[in-house]
Amino acid sequence: MRIDIITVLPELLKSPFEASILKRAIDAGLVEVHFHNLRDYTSDNYKSIDDTQFGGGAGMVMMVEPIDKCISALKAERNYDEVIYMTPDGETLKQGIANQISLKENIIILCGHYKGVDQRVRDHFITREISIGDYVLSGGELGAAVLCDAVIRLIPGVLGNETSALTDSFQDGLLAPPIYTKPREYKGWKVPELLFGGNLPEIEKWREEQAYLRTKERRPDLLDEN
Ligand code: ADE
Repeated sequence: MRIDIITVLPELLKSPFEASILKRAIDAGLVEVHFHNLRDYTSDNYKSIDDTQFGGGAGMVMMVEPIDKCISALKAERNYDEVIYMTPDGETLKQGIANQISLKENIIILCGHYKGVDQRVRDHFITREISIGDYVLSGGELGAAVLCDAVIRLIPGVLGNETSALTDSFQDGLLAPPIYTKPREYKGWKVPELLFGGNLPEIEKWREEQAYLRTKERRPDLLDEN
């Protein structure tokens, strides 16, 4: 998979890709992530990427031309499956969306800033608009990092144990059940006895019940969706 991220603040985005699982995935050649600074695609001396709104109103709007130049340069090199715009008015990121995107070969992610981008960018270049939640960030970069993390960990080979992504919360529409490790008892706090018996069907059944109970208690909306 190849991800091209268009941003005015590449430095804000880079560190998540220089550590942990994302770095390992990149080093192993399972994913390529490229950053493109929008200012490199400007045509004036001031490297302007934004201007005031037509019709008046507070806040600057990102101009169509630098974005067109950047996206067109990328598209001249290869085909893209999606051109994603990170924006608070996009569809809310869910596990299912991360699953879908993890199957793509090449994607572009455009990070918005200020008031957002000229509507013509959205009309003519963007194939999907994603929000990471109902709050406004100062730019799309942190959202893009969240999206990339959620997607990249699903690429086969990225997680050490292939099954571990399948047992994540949300993968089966439920939250994950409680988990325990050594010691069996700490300060009198015990691990449920049944986890020691080696009765795998019984353990599996217990986990399913716990996942259901936890979901019912914390996120009943997830049960309504199924
Ligand atoms: N840019 C600003 N706010 C955002 C959000 N909630 N999700 C994605 N991109 C954003």
